[in-house]
Amino acid sequence: MTLALRDAPAAEANPFRGSQDGNSHKVDACSIVIFGASGDLTKRKLLPALYNLSLDGFLPSPTSIVGVARKPLPDDDFRAQMKEGIQQFSRRRPANEAAWNELASRLHYISADFSDAGSYEKLRADLESVEKRNGTPPNRLFYLAIPPEFIAVAISNLTKSGLLARSNGNWSRVIVEKPFGIDLESARQLNRQLQQYATEKQIYRIDHYLGKETVQNLLVFRFANGIFEPIWNQKYVDHVQITVAETVGVEGRAGYFDKAGVTRDIIQNHVLQLLSLVAMEPPVAFDADAVRDEKVKVLRSLRPIRESEVQILTSRAQYAGGASGGKTVPGYLQEPGIPPESTTETYAAIHCAVDNWRWSGVPFFLRSGKRLARRATEIAIQFKAPPHLLFRGPAQARMEPNVLTLRIQPDEGISIKFTSKVPGPAPVLQPVRMDFLYGTSFGVEPPEAYERLLLDAAAGDSTLFTRADEVEAAWSFITPILDTWKSLGIADLDTYGSGTWGPRSADDLIARSGRAWRRV
Ligand code: BG6
Repeated sequence: MTLALRDAPAAEANPFRGSQDGNSHKVDACSIVIFGASGDLTKRKLLPALYNLSLDGFLPSPTSIVGVARKPLPDDDFRAQMKEGIQQFSRRRPANEAAWNELASRLHYISADFSDAGSYEKLRADLESVEKRNGTPPNRLFYLAIPPEFIAVAISNLTKSGLLARSNGNWSRVIVEKPFGIDLESARQLNRQLQQYATEKQIYRIDHYLGKETVQNLLVFRFANGIFEPIWNQKYVDHVQITVAETVGVEGRAGYFDKAGVTRDIIQNHVLQLLSLVAMEPPVAFDADAVRDEKVKVLRSLRPIRESEVQILTSRAQYAGGASGGKTVPGYLQEPGIPPESTTETYAAIHCAVDNWRWSGVPFFLRSGKRLARRATEIAIQFKAPPHLLFRGPAQARMEPNVLTLRIQPDEGISIKFTSKVPGPAPVLQPVRMDFLYGTSFGVEPPEAYERLLLDAAAGDSTLFTRADEVEAAWSFITPILDTWKSLGIADLDTYGSGTWGPRSADDLIARSGRAWRRV
């Protein structure tokens, strides 16, 4: 991954970045081929991201964008649907027809059934004709925004039809959307299947959290500053809390969510990725393998939670009805499409330990839930008290621990809480905050995660994508917990009111270690 310093504007405006497959060090013109083009992700995230990249001049000419789905659809109808998606979901709307027309002219649609090997001959011929028409070289980025059960078959068909072959310095890569497996065994199997047809360097497993500006800044914050790293360890840190709180419920995704639950949907990927970035050792270089080597070591250091410990170290719950965003909302079991006997968790908390030299004895508390009181993703690092307390009596009573909070979203920023003297003759102490806010400091809206990730994949930089061993290490930690929950049935399944901060069992979980959740 290449980072430019602020005082180097020429480099910033230049889409050159690191590359690891040896083909190039820049973003080549290519075809971005989206399987699952009729799905929600394409309309909500991918096309808006491509539109913004195009506006910023980051899509090299002549790049083609090709949507693939089963239903026959004329190019113009596909363009109209995508324009609607951009109008609704893009961070910048099509301000003028010229900007939209520029993107639309590169936008095409091919109908093909990605599960049918016979379709790929036609796909290949249609793609070649698009490339010929636009003058796009045969560099191909396939984005598999399709249900997980079709991923292996799609990659095998891409390989068999020659579409994943690399020749004459041209490249072919494939981006795989989550969920990557449903447990350790299925993730291993999927990795084996993928690696049978493509090299690891061609596979880009996406976790959109890694594309968020604030998440990328974690590495810069830790490793481009000298003052934090010396205290980033068990000697000074009391504990770490990682929160991904959402106010939304299942939002029309009942079929998917009820099979997944919040642990598979968010903790196994997004939260464990945040944990690995916070806890990792400094990498030897800022490149894909060096960074991921360190992240995977953290995931491997997670102390396994034994069956007998699951009810002490984890909490899971479902939301009941209540008020959220000023509206009355139904409980999880009353949501359309959710079976009334479902035991799927919409909230989970885990007390984990990172068994290595740096973090020995420092608990990491993870939590994520739907229909919570506020939408907030943050990492809070709470520091130990000073070794000797000078201020006693009422002054001491006002002292609170130092907390460094990395606010991933919303109100993106970083804050440090410390104790200060209240002006006046009496020794009165009070906690105060020092704040950095992205909006105020940079005055620009950060790009969407998918913008960065699409560009990196087109540049051959997989630093911000998860490697096979990382995904498996994360599942190794999570799968035994899920298995125990399954065997417990409803025995330890708690509930919480919509619009609250989660179940009582999660408060008890953290209280057992003498700590409390932050009210973010
Ligand atoms: C997705 C999950 O990966 O992340 C969703 O499938 C969740 O359930 C979403 O709502 C949260 O993403 P963000 O970027 O809004 O925090």
